[in-house]
Amino acid sequence: MPTGQTAFFHQFLRRPRQVAALAPSSPSLGEMMARQLPAQASRVAELGPGTGVFTRCMIDCGIAERDLVLFEINPLFAGDLAARFPQARLHRLPAQELARVEAAPFDAVLSGLPLLSMSADEQAAILGSAFSRLGPDGVFIQFTYGPKSPLRSRVTKGLGLSFTRTRRVWANLPPATVYVFRRPRVRAAAQ
Ligand SMILES: C[S@@+](CC[C@H](N)C(=O)[O-])C[C@H]1O[C@@H](n2cnc3c(N)ncnc32)[C@H](O)[C@@H]1O
Repeated sequence: MPTGQTAFFHQFLRRPRQVAALAPSSPSLGEMMARQLPAQASRVAELGPGTGVFTRCMIDCGIAERDLVLFEINPLFAGDLAARFPQARLHRLPAQELARVEAAPFDAVLSGLPLLSMSADEQAAILGSAFSRLGPDGVFIQFTYGPKSPLRSRVTKGLGLSFTRTRRVWANLPPATVYVFRRPRVRAAAQ
């Protein structure tokens, strides 16, 4: 049976810092996240999928289930994801391990991680690992409930990232904004 709102809240009570939300994200936020995927995206990693709201939206947006790679450390959520998305590759590992266990490049990394409650070192480990496996046009997509970027400026500057953000999604509790982080494009050498 899919993990419901009550089970999610129970997991929040057990692991407040790790789950960091009282309820799963809404499908409206999921749609906004999925809409930020590059037009030709096929291979996508999802960090902290929880109950799979964003996973479902990405599949509905045309990403093949077999091209999804999920990183989820909560055992209850991971068990549920394995049952609901059997073709996706599931790692019951911290997102920081992405570069160690996945070699081929991704078109996007979409994150539901509670980055705001992480230290700069934790953020740098996750973003560094993700960008080392993103192609040159790859993007890191992250939502936040806060009024500004969820990444500490030391991390943004250290990795040389730029970002854009969407309008606020009010149909989510609490309302959230989606950030898209990119690396600057390296200019092709003059021929
Ligand atoms: C705020 S919940 C978001 C869940 C889901 N994406 C959503 O929006 O409803 C954060 C999720 O990240 C997972 N998580 C936290 N730290 C993690 C880490 N280092 N690696 C992988 N998953 C992590 C939690 O177990 C939880 O499922």
